[in-house]
Amino acid sequence: QSLLILTAVLAYLLGSIPFGIVITRALGLGDLRRIGSGNIGATNVLRTGNKGAALATLVLDAAKGGIAVLVARALLAEDAAQVAGLAAFLGHLFPVWLGFKGGKGVATFLGTLIALAWPVGLAACATWAVVAAITRTSSVAALMSAASVSGWLFFFGEGRMLFLVVILTILVYIRHAANLRRIKAGTEPKIGRKGTTEA
Ligand code: G3P
Repeated sequence: QSLLILTAVLAYLLGSIPFGIVITRALGLGDLRRIGSGNIGATNVLRTGNKGAALATLVLDAAKGGIAVLVARALLAEDAAQVAGLAAFLGHLFPVWLGFKGGKGVATFLGTLIALAWPVGLAACATWAVVAAITRTSSVAALMSAASVSGWLFFFGEGRMLFLVVILTILVYIRHAANLRRIKAGTEPKIGRKGTTEA
């Protein structure tokens, strides 16, 4: 029991590392909070114009969830792996290092899924990529991908993860409230464009 709590706390602290901010600061790309949507994720890092920084943010934010799951699974069990994935995801959304004001969780969600059940994770990534290719809008791709995951769980016989996935999906939607407003208004920027700053 105490080992599970310790794992969850460590996973939360790992998830709390805001790689988008760390990388953009290290490269002198400006204050991510004042660029584009103001979000700390890879989509917003891309608005600095630095594709490598955006890719690194995507991979590292995804790795936070994936590593938390793999370590918890190796040390404890499958249930602990799900708890660790949730904790890392919550760390990204509510990071202790940023006064609990974090990101939208898409990359960490995908990384967690890949580690928990890779076919589901890859199907979610593919859904993101297809929707992104069609709409050229990162938030639309993220929202459609998140919504698809529950379906992918049943397709691949991974219903054991449904409770976790429903929680993560709801949180992804809540964090995209401003994006949803802009999508409705037709003002959501396409991938790579700077776009409006969230008020
Ligand atoms: O992963 C976040 C993405 O779905 C939206 O990012 O910066 O356009 O709000 P952003």
